[in-house]
Amino acid sequence: MAPRPYVLLSCATSVDGYLDDASPRRLILSGPADLDRVDEVRAGCDAILVGAQTVRKDNPRLLIRDPRRSARRAARGLPAHPARVTLTATGDLDPQARFFAPGALRLVYCATSAIGRARAQLGDSAVLIDAGDPLSLDLVLTDLAERGVVRVLVEGGARVLGEFLAGGLADELTLAMAPFFVADPDPKTAPRLNLAPHSPFNPISPTSPMTLAEVQRVGEVGLLRYLLGPGGPDHRFLRWAVELSRLCPPSASAFSVGAVIVGEDGEVLATGFSREQEDHDHAEEVALRKLAPGQLRPSLGPDPRLRHATLYSSLVPCGARASRPVTCVQHILAAGIPRVVFAWREPRLFTDGEGAEQLGAAGVAVTEVPGLAERARVVNAHLVGSGA
Ligand SMILES: NC(=O)c1ccc[n+]([C@@H]2O[C@H](COP(=O)([O-])OP(=O)(O)OC[C@H]3O[C@@H](n4cnc5c(N)ncnc54)[C@H](OP(=O)(O)O)[C@@H]3O)[C@@H](O)[C@H]2O)c1
Repeated sequence: MAPRPYVLLSCATSVDGYLDDASPRRLILSGPADLDRVDEVRAGCDAILVGAQTVRKDNPRLLIRDPRRSARRAARGLPAHPARVTLTATGDLDPQARFFAPGALRLVYCATSAIGRARAQLGDSAVLIDAGDPLSLDLVLTDLAERGVVRVLVEGGARVLGEFLAGGLADELTLAMAPFFVADPDPKTAPRLNLAPHSPFNPISPTSPMTLAEVQRVGEVGLLRYLLGPGGPDHRFLRWAVELSRLCPPSASAFSVGAVIVGEDGEVLATGFSREQEDHDHAEEVALRKLAPGQLRPSLGPDPRLRHATLYSSLVPCGARASRPVTCVQHILAAGIPRVVFAWREPRLFTDGEGAEQLGAAGVAVTEVPGLAERARVVNAHLVGSGA
């Protein structure tokens, strides 16, 4: 069975958490730089999901705007645009909405009781899928996985975001915060980011918070990226490393790997993926190089923060290497990184490197997370086959 897709939630809010105001016009919360950032995120996903109310109210196109990004997808054998996905309990959708325009696959997940109405309204303008009664998000994600969706971007609105959060079904939440308040006098009239109404418990409480992975200025908005999901920070950072491995330029002779280096205080110091900057780059090597351009030149010395950092890698760092003289194990030891967490043990395909053993023998604390090995392996299925 295909693993459930990686779920990215993305929205723009006011400082007081509103996703829109109560007026009939759509409130613009993010600027051109943030829209361009979202376009890049869209280009890295297989599907974009919004609630039926967002389809009705905002009438979004849900297409990639920059043709260079669509062309990049096409070159990798992907459809030019991600699939458009919506959820409905009533089946009340207008086939004239932009959601149903040609250009991308359209998937409508509908509660069983409304299938007849949805079919009568939509005809063949979308693939209509019975998602149970009441509609089950687990079923939606399972079905998306079976259709080959590996990454799904959930763009709102409030109810859909809240349901994914309350159901513990999100892996990332990106908030673009606009520099103003909506200050709606009646809090019920404008949609606000919140856990789903009637959520029986709060899975993201002060005792089980999200993991802050990024704080950035994008034009006039402040961008906050949180990691969620089971297993706490170690699993979350490692899952993120696996996601980064999907960005690797393809190669028939080298693995696709992602790496994240996290400082002692939880700050993400650097990320990298294989071949990100140069043809023979390994992910760990790129992350170290970005962090301190002098890092790979011993005379300048390593960044002192590395002496308390953890390196997360989707594949165990290499202990033997044909492409370059210095292995990733040697880079890690030279940097003084005391801890490495990895998902997948290197199959003996290109080298016999015993990276984990070498790191352990040198005093590095090594943690293997076999539960994420399959996710990391699947990215390399073209090298190692589809079986385990
Ligand atoms: N700022 C942002 O980033 C952003 C992004 C997107 C949207 N928005 C705003 O958000 C507002 C819309 O949010 P919203 O909360 O009203 O609506 P929504 O989340 O877009 O859609 C809710 C609808 O989706 C369907 N649905 C969702 N979860 C379901 C479930 N578990 N089972 C069955 N059906 C389900 C239902 O459709 P039916 O009613 O058809 O049954 C439900 O009424 C708009 O004002 C829009 O402008 C803001």
